[in-house]
Amino acid sequence: MNAHPLQRASRTGLDWTRALTFLARERRSFAERNPASAALAAQASEHLLFGVPLHWMNDWGTPFALHVCQASGAQVTDVDGHTLVDFCLGDTGAMFGHAPAPVAAALAKQATRGYTTMLATADAAAVGGLLADRFGLPFWQFAMSATDANRYIVRWIRAATGRKKLLVFNGCYHGTIEDVFVDLVNGQPVQRDSLLGQVHDLTEHTMVVEFNDLPALEAALQQGDVACVLAEPVMTNIGMVLPEPGFWGEAQVLIKKHGALLVMDETHTISTGPGGYARAHGIEADALVLGKPVGGGVPCAVYGMSADLATRAVQAKQDAPPGHSGIGTTLTGNMLAMAAMRTTLAEVMTPAAYAHMLSLAERLASGLRGLIARHGLPWCVTQVGARTEFQFCTAPPRNGSEAEAVLDPELEHLIHLGLLNRGVMITPFHNMMLVCPQTTEEDVVLLLGALDEVLSQITLTA
Ligand SMILES: Cc1ncc(COP(=O)(O)O)c(C=O)c1O
Repeated sequence: MNAHPLQRASRTGLDWTRALTFLARERRSFAERNPASAALAAQASEHLLFGVPLHWMNDWGTPFALHVCQASGAQVTDVDGHTLVDFCLGDTGAMFGHAPAPVAAALAKQATRGYTTMLATADAAAVGGLLADRFGLPFWQFAMSATDANRYIVRWIRAATGRKKLLVFNGCYHGTIEDVFVDLVNGQPVQRDSLLGQVHDLTEHTMVVEFNDLPALEAALQQGDVACVLAEPVMTNIGMVLPEPGFWGEAQVLIKKHGALLVMDETHTISTGPGGYARAHGIEADALVLGKPVGGGVPCAVYGMSADLATRAVQAKQDAPPGHSGIGTTLTGNMLAMAAMRTTLAEVMTPAAYAHMLSLAERLASGLRGLIARHGLPWCVTQVGARTEFQFCTAPPRNGSEAEAVLDPELEHLIHLGLLNRGVMITPFHNMMLVCPQTTEEDVVLLLGALDEVLSQITLTA
């Protein structure tokens, strides 16, 4: 814990002595409630580096890794038999619920017919058509993760435009595509120093400006060497940052004027509606990336291109010498993934599913605002469709720097642990909650009740 925690604005209205007592109690309670998880965590530490499949699974803030045995709809069951209502939903990977029935059926059918052949199936053409209809871009390719989809679209665009530079917004995250890990520090681009094994200087080809800063965007583009702007239409990974009115309209004009292309990474903002944020708000991107939920949680991702970009990409491939393009992996477009995507797009990511998710998310957002007001906390709530987040500031942040300044991992850990012990899971690393088609009104009431209880334990008493 920091030496002067009460000085932090996010903790205004909190009694940090009470909060620390609460945290100690919650850690004990977690350990008592989860003996089977504790045993598995100990066993896993014998042969798994860091004791978990992926090192950051230790960053949930629990005393040891929670182990789960099943995930279905809006619920996760842990190995100690607790059923948790899941508002994390695999940080969007399961945004349409865990193991959606139509996807489970499609996978079961495909399971006896082969998984991977390096050849197309009938599903491929169908998926291409479904994507084109949904997003309005005519040509598509596949990847195994959103990270790779971003990596490949940037590669195609650099090849197609002959330009090397990538422009991103400060505080962005687009997966582990290396190029984007450049931050603005005191107005200067600085390579993220937490990156492991990074040997190339990323600042050479990556430019970074603040979100919502049109003059800075224009200044960066003016040099005429930017291949593309890679962006989420709403920043979601440093806490949510909404575009100011008119931002994307102006930004598109500038991007076009200076010969750059716009890539919209809709991996998280697909929470907006069936066609994502860009389609709902009239943003005409040259390319679009979507991973995580597009196969109902089965690993796969897609990226689409405008007709013009597609023509230039094909030309670039034809002009290149024979050999590896640096794009694609062996399992990309495999039979299981294609079956999962076809079913997800046709039967799961439906307008009816969104109608339920959006109205329940509204209910959640207004419930959160009520709670925050009742506890007198200087916090706000931001919502993008089915995605809702409370942030430790009175007004939503306008850019990555502002959003970063109000992050408070200690407070987040404390709240998340308190919620977990009360049967509710929200997304680690920030305070994000997703509503899926199977989430019920009762689930939302449970979350609000649990949060109310946690806040009552840590806020200043009159
Ligand atoms: C906007 C965005 N793009 C891409 C990714 C990368 O997704 P994945 O980790 O599945 O490759 C993420 C992950 O959180 C993301 O938030």
